[in-house]
Amino acid sequence: MKKIALQLGCLVLLISSCSNKQNTTIPGYIEEPHSFSKPNEAVITHLDLDINVDFDKEIIQGKASYSIKNNKASQIILDSKFLTIESVQADGKDTSFSLSDFDEQLGNALKIDINKDTKHITVFYKTSQETEALQWLKPQQTADKTHPFLFTQGQAILTRTWIPIQDSPQIRITYNAKVQVPSDLMAVMSAENPKVKTPDGHYYFKMAQPISPYLIALAVGDIEYKAISNRTGIYAEKSMVEKAHYEFSDMENMVASAEALYGKYAWEQFDVIVLPPSFPFGGMENPRLTFATPTVIAGDKSLTSLIAHELAHSWSGNLVTNATWDDFWLNEGFTVYFEMRIMEVLYGKDRANMLARIGRQDLEEEIEGFKDTPDDTKLKLNLKGRNPDDGMNSIAYDKGYLFLRTLEETAGREKFDDFLKNYFQKHAFSTINTEKFVRFLNENLLEKHDIAFNTEEWIYKAGIPDNQAIITSNKFETVEKTIQQFVKNNAVDKTLTKDWTTQEWVHFVRNFPNDIKTEHLIMIDEAFNLTNSKNSYIAMVWYEQAINHNYHGNNVDTKIEDFLIKVGRRWYVSTIYKAFKRNDKTDVALAIYNKARSNYHSVTANTIDDLLGFK
Ligand code: BES
Ligand code: ZN
Repeated sequence: MKKIALQLGCLVLLISSCSNKQNTTIPGYIEEPHSFSKPNEAVITHLDLDINVDFDKEIIQGKASYSIKNNKASQIILDSKFLTIESVQADGKDTSFSLSDFDEQLGNALKIDINKDTKHITVFYKTSQETEALQWLKPQQTADKTHPFLFTQGQAILTRTWIPIQDSPQIRITYNAKVQVPSDLMAVMSAENPKVKTPDGHYYFKMAQPISPYLIALAVGDIEYKAISNRTGIYAEKSMVEKAHYEFSDMENMVASAEALYGKYAWEQFDVIVLPPSFPFGGMENPRLTFATPTVIAGDKSLTSLIAHELAHSWSGNLVTNATWDDFWLNEGFTVYFEMRIMEVLYGKDRANMLARIGRQDLEEEIEGFKDTPDDTKLKLNLKGRNPDDGMNSIAYDKGYLFLRTLEETAGREKFDDFLKNYFQKHAFSTINTEKFVRFLNENLLEKHDIAFNTEEWIYKAGIPDNQAIITSNKFETVEKTIQQFVKNNAVDKTLTKDWTTQEWVHFVRNFPNDIKTEHLIMIDEAFNLTNSKNSYIAMVWYEQAINHNYHGNNVDTKIEDFLIKVGRRWYVSTIYKAFKRNDKTDVALAIYNKARSNYHSVTANTIDDLLGFK
């Protein structure tokens, strides 16, 4: 009895001390709908990862040790999904743990018992076949076709499927890793990286700046390094190194221009790894090592705005991070804006405006697609209970961009640039949500310079406000006239297109009249052979039009199928599958998808499963 009273007393003490201490580990922590962790009770601050990459079993096995900041908690909660947790230690001694019921989106809460003064925990674990972050590739799926390949994709909430972790963007940790791979392969991470293979397949990594868990990344393959400057370079398979090196040779200039715009590059090294074509994104801004699709290697540097984009994330995203996935537009909208500014410095206003106009058309189409769910066109989202991927669309990117461009035009570039520089500096290595941003904007730009602006309408209302910046491109106006002329004359005039850039071709293809006749598509394809374009972007938009307009010439159906089987970039393949669906050809789409699906990373497969009602 006495003992119980004593324990009750302790409990009361514990509760009262709990309510007295405010946000002690992460000041201003915002409730996170996509993580089970309770960082204000106990939070991870540093990770020591020690893993073995087993290509035979296709699993990663090892231990994740954490330094923790402990707010006198009796438990620390990590996120875990599809992991086998073998055992857990607290300060070197075995401790008890439990897994909560499985949640389709979030996985399981891994609840680890600790003492109020526990400083370290270690989780022994292995991944499973269901892992969503990892894609294990057979040699056949790589460029050189001689060795297997592995890469991870952490954003948005997939890191927990290969490392047990507090998987919220508001968490920041430094990390060290020891990674064992087969000795004929090289491992690289979002960290300080090796430039050559080691003889024994042991690799050691260090990320000295604190990063959010979604930015922890690993790639393993038969890759080589080639420097572009003393702080930029390329990792790729042998047959891709030279091509990638040429394509991305402006990388050092991009970093220098970015620094001139918004302040010093905070991560020392900026490298890019070119992955096999199943990589589900154009690019992923893993710190120090951007992951990129090979589909941007066009041979003429025409798709390198992707590199400017991922580089820009070194400020907007990696340095100043969205607090929750509802604030995703703060990552992507700012990054598109910054990307356009880098492109303008390097290649001029015409190029930047063409890119912006393409984004403006994407936005128009996205808004049309959301006509029944207008809430999805707001910048600030509410993704509770949904997959954060639902917010990964043109709204965050292109409406976010348009908002910032409109602000820039309203305030004037000089004031806006001062504001942005200050924004990155003040929030470096921290997270920010939309509300905090609005306050910062009011205080440091709008009120400061007495500027009236409808910020709330832009951020919290559906659609696009009337004061939007109007983006014009003379080049694109010429392209539009050219289309009309070709159709009217029933003939093409190649002199009009001979200097066209990729962006002009993309605009040309995307803006055919709705009632364009098959004979005109035949005429255009005979003249320009778009079906066999080596440029993945031009090919992709042409395939979309071929499907829209029932064009079957030039063996285009086979080309579309080949493309969908080889490429796993989600934006490309979903554009094509959507076109099939829109035109009542879901059966054709499914027949191809049956062959292609096993080549896709889980994020692409999940999207296409939903789109086509697969399984
Ligand atoms: N961070 C994104 C990719 C991402 C977003 C992955 C959300 C997972 C969840 C990356 O920076 C990106 O935006 N990639 C674009 C490139 C582009 C807009 C130039 C892509 O993959 O197409
Ligand atoms: Zn991005």
